[in-house]
Amino acid sequence: MKRSLLSLYAIALWAVPSTPYAQTPKLNSKTEALFAKMTIEEKVGQMAQVTLDVIGKGENRFSSFEPLVPDTAELNKAVVKYKLGSILNTANNRARTPQAWNQLIGQIQDAAINKTRLGIPVIFGIDAVHGTTYTAGATMFPQQINQAAARNRALVRKGAEITAYETRASSIPWNFSPVLDLGADPRFSRQFETFGEDPYLISELGKEMIKGYEGEDISHPEKVATSLKHFLGYMVPASGKDRTPVYLSEQALREYHLPAFKAAIDAGAHTVMINSGIINNIPVHANYEILTKLLKEELGFKGLVITDWGDIENLFTRDRIARDHKQAIELAINAGIDMSMVAYNYEVFCDNLIALVKEGRVKESRLNDAVRRILWVKQELGLFERPVTDISAYPKFGSDEFRRAAFESAAESITLLKNEKSVLPFTKGKKILVTGPNSHSMRTLNGGWTYSWQGEKVEEFASAYHTILEALQKEAGVDNVIHMPGVSYKMDGKYYEEFADRFDETVAAAREVDAIVLCIGENSYTETPGNLNDLYLSDLQTELALRLSATGKPVVVVLNEGRPRIISKFADKVQAIVQVYLPGNYGGDALADILFGDVNPSGKLPYTYPQFPNSMISYIHKPSEERETVEGVYNYSADFNPQFTFGHGLSYTTFTYSNLELSKPELAGSERLSVSVDVANTGNREGKEVVELYTSDLFATITPDVKRLRRFEKISLKPGEKRTVTFSLTKDDLSFIGLNGNPVVESGEFKILIGNQSKNFIYTR
Ligand code: BGC
Repeated sequence: MKRSLLSLYAIALWAVPSTPYAQTPKLNSKTEALFAKMTIEEKVGQMAQVTLDVIGKGENRFSSFEPLVPDTAELNKAVVKYKLGSILNTANNRARTPQAWNQLIGQIQDAAINKTRLGIPVIFGIDAVHGTTYTAGATMFPQQINQAAARNRALVRKGAEITAYETRASSIPWNFSPVLDLGADPRFSRQFETFGEDPYLISELGKEMIKGYEGEDISHPEKVATSLKHFLGYMVPASGKDRTPVYLSEQALREYHLPAFKAAIDAGAHTVMINSGIINNIPVHANYEILTKLLKEELGFKGLVITDWGDIENLFTRDRIARDHKQAIELAINAGIDMSMVAYNYEVFCDNLIALVKEGRVKESRLNDAVRRILWVKQELGLFERPVTDISAYPKFGSDEFRRAAFESAAESITLLKNEKSVLPFTKGKKILVTGPNSHSMRTLNGGWTYSWQGEKVEEFASAYHTILEALQKEAGVDNVIHMPGVSYKMDGKYYEEFADRFDETVAAAREVDAIVLCIGENSYTETPGNLNDLYLSDLQTELALRLSATGKPVVVVLNEGRPRIISKFADKVQAIVQVYLPGNYGGDALADILFGDVNPSGKLPYTYPQFPNSMISYIHKPSEERETVEGVYNYSADFNPQFTFGHGLSYTTFTYSNLELSKPELAGSERLSVSVDVANTGNREGKEVVELYTSDLFATITPDVKRLRRFEKISLKPGEKRTVTFSLTKDDLSFIGLNGNPVVESGEFKILIGNQSKNFIYTR
């Protein structure tokens, strides 16, 4: 049996590990020559990253004056004296123009290249997680959760290509994206940053995103290096709250959390960011088994491993596994960290690490491994040749071509969850009431990580785009649209605070219209500020939904939310439910087109939408979680009872599945199984359908998952058109992680499910 990744002796508490760092990348001769000249101080400097405010002119390190200019003394101290290798983030938590970025990064690179002995450029990193977050005028895409709902590989790749282009146009070559965490907990404040709850879906879309960002060669002036995050097992804490303890078996870690990271590393990702949290009581930043044994040795990752924000300090100040800063640095660097996102106090990091090396508590060979990885990424990015770019070389920045891609991505993501008596699409000329706290807000359409960390500055930068109200006024004509908020968010309060805003008037206005578009959900947030105590949609919004539905007018609920807030108190009382998630700057336009039938919806839920707070079971679950409720006196309450299942999503047309065929009824060894199914558009509109293939392992030595997604393909069919879709499976698609931590495939009976079709087959090893 493998040594456990998660056992207590996983932390090399006082021992200095003697790993030979077999995966250290090869440098070219120029970089190798540079590396050979480096002192310990120069190596340590490369391993530190600070946030932009640290070198900005201002009163302190936490805020800068605007317009931002570097403070020459601070810049020289950080980059010349301490020889820091990297800077991240924007200053003052706000977006700036590409010209401002070019100039600023030019000044930083000038110090790094022309005023230091070795002239190594700084690598600048940013969170461009749904478009280039901190660049004004850049193209904002839907968040990752939408892109997972769209299930369209080509759109994910195109979006990443555009984001890479606009990020590099801002002189920034390193993107802290994609998020490859399993978004399996609906309570978690960052679920919207994920590709949802399925490991295969995350792996497939993750690979596309990496190819889009990195291309074949990251030295290309339109490409960036990616950072896979957050390695590993971040988003499933017991409490549902950010950066609180996760308890996870190694079997589950490898079965559900690891595959997407493995696929992305195999696809060539250059950097990895570590999980800020704690697994089985070990902070991941101090876990040698995860960082070195698993990531660097087993997965063969030869790129750069960076901490998350301040997470070395956290080993001391938050998690108390180190007695002081120095020991925290010793633990993390010896566990396998290459670069510390120190954020602010770089002197503490650098001075202590230099001392640790001199005292032999951190070996210079460990530093060499880290620095080679850092220099390798800089070399691969071509930073020595092109440390800064110029916006004039990027004519497509913010172009119509880019906007169209963002619109398409939004349109394909929007998911029609309910459409009773075909209340949608609306016919032209209908009089509608547009209401709810999300009806007139660009902030809520975008969510966190948009022009600022929590998304609170969106309105300042997004006035050129349409809120849901504005888009509907455009679509239906101003005279046909009445707007009343009913409930509003307190924009200067906590993100979740709201108030009744002409509540009774709104209900009265509902009586004057043909239909109600009720836009509800959440205000923007991310990370710890988005922690939640109650997953039910707020009381006030619930009351608004109940009051409006009681008018007897058709209610179309538009959900605009970063996680599935529970709506079971009114879901059966409204006629239609449309999930827009966080669709970005073109989400309002895309929704208007869907409500009025110009676009046929084709999104599918990327997670399970819970109906009850004590029944938050993912579609990936065990047979014991899906038992029939027994009639009569007993109610086991162990049934699988979501509001909507993973993969659910309606269309304005109908698709009919038939003729599921397997190439053979029995499969042996490494043979391939070909699976085909006919899909026909049996309605009267053109539409896109996501064809999903699931497998069920009927019996296994560990209790099997009820079903698992193995393949998907999005196709487009004209009315009356029929297409045969073929998938190919191998034994790897039937395997699971056994108790020894290795994949196993067992002989036995399996079921294939596509749409309403299913067929069994036998596999023999
Ligand atoms: C987040 C990361 C992000 C980093 C840098 C952290 O707080 O967890 O996802 O990349 O900040 O902004």
